[in-house]
Amino acid sequence: MPTNFYKRLVGAKEVYTFRDFILLPGKSDIEPGSVTLSTNFTTNLKLKLPIVSSPMDTVTEADMAISIARQGGIGIIHRNMAIDDQVEIVKRVKRAESFIIRDVITVETHEKLKAAMDLMKEHHISGLPVLQKGRLVGILTKRDVTFADQRSIVSKVMTRDVVTAGPDVNISGAMKIMHKHRVEKLPVVKKDGHLIGLITIKDIYSREKYSLASRDEEGRLMVGASISPTDLERAKALDNHVDVIISDVAHFHNENLIKASKKLVKQISADYVIGSIGTREATEDCVTRIDNVSGIRAGVGSGSICITSEVTRSGAPTLFAVSEISDTLQKYGLKIPIIGDGGIRSPGDAALAIAAGASTVMMGNVFAGCSESPGSLIKIGGKHYKPYRGMGSDAAREKMFARDRYGQPSKGIAEGVEGVVPYRGDVQAVVTEFVAGLRASFGYSGAANIKDLWSKAAFGAVSSAGSDELRPHDIILPGE
Ligand code: XMP
Repeated sequence: MPTNFYKRLVGAKEVYTFRDFILLPGKSDIEPGSVTLSTNFTTNLKLKLPIVSSPMDTVTEADMAISIARQGGIGIIHRNMAIDDQVEIVKRVKRAESFIIRDVITVETHEKLKAAMDLMKEHHISGLPVLQKGRLVGILTKRDVTFADQRSIVSKVMTRDVVTAGPDVNISGAMKIMHKHRVEKLPVVKKDGHLIGLITIKDIYSREKYSLASRDEEGRLMVGASISPTDLERAKALDNHVDVIISDVAHFHNENLIKASKKLVKQISADYVIGSIGTREATEDCVTRIDNVSGIRAGVGSGSICITSEVTRSGAPTLFAVSEISDTLQKYGLKIPIIGDGGIRSPGDAALAIAAGASTVMMGNVFAGCSESPGSLIKIGGKHYKPYRGMGSDAAREKMFARDRYGQPSKGIAEGVEGVVPYRGDVQAVVTEFVAGLRASFGYSGAANIKDLWSKAAFGAVSSAGSDELRPHDIILPGE
């Protein structure tokens, strides 16, 4: 029988969370406007903003991932769906914009116009290159189809005289051709007429409009997707399409999941982020046993929809988790980016997570209220809300695919709740406000960038009296 229970109890490690700390103001010559927030999301992927949307079915599908990548962050597509559906959503994000679209949606000359129009609608596109034996013979645009008889075939209504570009075209060359011929779509063809890509004016303008956007080498928006480490089939199906594959289990420090991950990383080429974990021991085990860990999701039980700690009395709050993991990585001389995940409600919380060693923060609650999250607006008492639920909630678990996330620690018990969050407007507005707060916070610490904050941040522990005083007090606020 082991002994020392009482000693273990009273000698327990103190486990702190966001509300326990503030960042002490430091000497500063940094104006918020000059703060740079660029960071590493994984060992290979860089972002202009340290912001990630959670892989949750009320947070990140295509619209959210597109918007957040345009702002400079990244969205992680949830896995509470069939593999094919998740791959299709990833492809939609990749198709949203690029300098040259490579997986072009096309039609054949003999196809019915109705089928071509359905294709346009399904993929939200306004033009289709027309092929015959792989060679470009025409283009079908909205203009061609608007007044045409839907029963006719594509070759009857398509525009035959197509303006094209060669494989070596660059942005300014493409712009010149498009302006000269007043066309909005420019198929890219090889000398023998084979179609190898498509350039659209919309994508070119978008590059100028979203200058901070997170893009891959081909100019497409970056996107990640979540998996269970034991779901090799899903990981392989996503691998060629995503920039990063992210483990999405509540308790990654589990022998089966570590073994599965060791196998998985050998079979995929995308970056692999492990998690969630929250202790030194977990970090040590994972980074010494799994090759090529590209990032670590930190935090167990802090999410606003979590009841994991309530149900199981087990957890590692995000701020504690981040600092434990970053200290352990330092010990091993490893530079694996940490994602602070769960419980982040404000730019100040994000700044604390970053100050403790995180490179990015993952948020569900903050983004669930945006117009781009899945789910409709709900009106309650004259105010607007959007649905938000934990992936371990009964409702999410009803969809079979979510079960394994919370299956291990507490079979048959919900570890998340379901509710609504206030509607916040679109992602752009939310990110703009969030980034302004983050910059201001960096300014108070005198930090010009994330690395600077890691070294300059000074933490202050807040007493419960202090906690009251640090909020608006002795004033009646509207609506109270
Ligand atoms: P926020 O605070 O932004 O946290 O709502 C989002 C993060 O919470 C995690 N998550 C869960 N954790 N039960 C949990 O214990 C759940 O049902 C659940 N669903 C999501 C996840 O890490 C997410 O990024």
